[in-house]
Formats: sequence, C-alpha cells, structure tokens
Amino acid sequence: MSRLVFVLNGPNLNLLGKRQPHIYGHETLADVAAKCRALGAELGLEIRFHQSNREYEIIDWIHEAREIAGGIVINPAAFTHTSVAILDALNTFDHPVIEVHISNVHKREEFRHHSFVSGRADGVIAGFGTQGYLLGLRRVASLLDEKKA
Ligand code: DQA
Repeated sequence: MSRLVFVLNGPNLNLLGKRQPHIYGHETLADVAAKCRALGAELGLEIRFHQSNREYEIIDWIHEAREIAGGIVINPAAFTHTSVAILDALNTFDHPVIEVHISNVHKREEFRHHSFVSGRADGVIAGFGTQGYLLGLRRVASLLDEKKA
C-alpha cells in the first residue's frame, strides 16, 4: 500500500494565521505543511500538501490521489458544508480519509454542523487546532500499518 498521503485544504485556508486568529490561531498554512512533512518523515509517510480556493482543483487532487495515494487528510473548509461534488470524489477513493477542522464546528453556527464529507470520512477531527492535521496523519499511518500486518 502506498504511504503517500495527500493533505488537502479548501478555501480561505491560505489566509491561516491572518484570518480570524481567535478562531483559527496564529500558525500559517506553511507552518502546518512543515509540521505535516516532519511528522510524515517520522511515520514513514510521504506528504503532498495542497490548498485551493477552487472546488474543481480539490476534486482533481482527489482524482490524482485515487491513482497513487494510500490516504487523504482533508480540511475542505467551507466546502465541507456545501459540496456534494467533493463527497462524490472522495467516494471514488478506496483508502483512509480523515476529515479535519481546526475549529470545533459543532460549537459554532448551525450551518457548520452538517458535513457532506463526513458521509465518507473514516474519522473526523474538530476543535484540536492545527494539531488536528497531525492527529489525522497518525491515524492514516496506523490504518496503513494495520493493513500491512
Ligand atoms: C473549518 C471550519 C469551516 O466551517 C470553515 O468554513 C473553514 C474552516 C475549520 O478548519 O475549522 O473555513 O473547516
């Protein structure tokens, strides 16, 4: 099984660190990418880290992951609550999918309580700050290790 993991980020996460820091914290997305790569090296995972404000680009990365990756960690951001297309794309992916939200979406506005992506995700992490990405990678690594055993 491939130990390549795609870490995908949806709209506005390019502004992480500047955008509503009282909700999303002060770390930038580049900081998160660096931490994911460092943990990936520890866990024997190769990381491809992407962000886009365009839904189709996220779908294209999921299609690419379908061919070559063993797992996906995804923070679809606002697309979480709107995108059947991202859910459909994830449903074509046969390996672990972990959904991550930096904030606890359940503590926030009602419209954030529903996630289309959760209908496919093998696990959902919310409210752990950017640490959620690292927890997601640890979970993908252990699911891949279980499959190997
Ligand atoms: C988010 C939560 C979403 O509701 C929001 O639209 C985001 C970020 C999070 O990481 O907490 O952009 O996915």
